[in-house]
Amino acid sequence: MIKIYIAPMAGVTDYTYRRIMNKFHPDLMFTEMISVNAVKMANKKTIDQMLRLLPNDGVQIFGRDIDVMVETALYIESLGVTYIDVNMGCPMPKITKNGYGSALLEDPEHVREMMGAIKKALKPETKLSMKIRIGYKEYKNPIELAKIAEELGLHHITVHGRTKEQMYSGTANWEVIKQIKDAVSIPVIGNGDIFTAEGGYEKAMESGVDGIMLARGIYGNPWLIQQIREKFETGEVITKVTYIDKINMALLHIEYMKEDYPEKQFNFEIRKHLCWYLKGITGGSKVKNLLNKIDNYDDIAKVLIELRDKLGMVDLPYREEKTKKI
Ligand SMILES: Cc1cc2nc3c(=O)[nH]c(=O)nc-3n(C[C@H](O)[C@H](O)[C@H](O)COP(=O)(O)O)c2cc1C
Repeated sequence: MIKIYIAPMAGVTDYTYRRIMNKFHPDLMFTEMISVNAVKMANKKTIDQMLRLLPNDGVQIFGRDIDVMVETALYIESLGVTYIDVNMGCPMPKITKNGYGSALLEDPEHVREMMGAIKKALKPETKLSMKIRIGYKEYKNPIELAKIAEELGLHHITVHGRTKEQMYSGTANWEVIKQIKDAVSIPVIGNGDIFTAEGGYEKAMESGVDGIMLARGIYGNPWLIQQIREKFETGEVITKVTYIDKINMALLHIEYMKEDYPEKQFNFEIRKHLCWYLKGITGGSKVKNLLNKIDNYDDIAKVLIELRDKLGMVDLPYREEKTKKI
């Protein structure tokens, strides 16, 4: 069975959202990227917040300095983490200007030395991986980087089929992902533009990858994990998601956030998730506007419950083209 991994996504796949996705049993989930320098400088309280983990979560780190990378990887391993990934894809200027993230794609020799040092320092059973793009300015050397991962005996390599320059625009190039899969013997996880179970199935089958990594496709949509699995197991998507399911999940998300965050941080963190859950739902935009004016858990939940009660009359499988005015 193909592996289904959840991508690291800064500002999205925090501890709370990983709790939600965990209900759908992905094979592996990664934290948002974590700066090795921040871990080195932080006090215990900040570290506990940054590295709040569910059992079996993988941690993604970013940085460049070999000693700091090794030191932090060892520290993370000492917390009981068994999957550690290194970010070689982040395109943000504040990251690349320091030589971190996708800037590493330009320096395969440094990648070899850095990943080799981390691998050597970690216990053999700790699973080290790297997540790359297919080039920096343009398509360049992803196969060379994948061969380095293979040579070092990494657990897997994840390939996002875009260059750094593309950021998140254009389409992910799964042909290159296939070429990488054909070129190396370690597991290759394909990533980019998986928004539906059918799309995930086709991309995985055509490229022959060992696993797929879901990112923007799981915005407000953790059911995608289950739907992809169903497509592989039965050839069909069985789970249909209704408006009511989406609102119930939004309410659960609020419940979890209440447990995980202080109220003043909540307001900032929850809004995007609620917009994603409400996307395409009749009456959703009115509620979204209202949500912008409310800043406490209970009032937001109340508004969602009212919307759910109204929709109870016209619950339809979630399909944007089927939205009905109520
Ligand atoms: C909001 C956001 C935050 C992201 N943060 C990270 C990150 O912390 N580490 C990382 O390796 N990739 C990060 N990514 C990239 C995703 O993991 C993934 O590679 C990319 O979105 C392509 O997959 P998709 O087309 O399915 O969204 C981020 C992407 C988005 C949209």
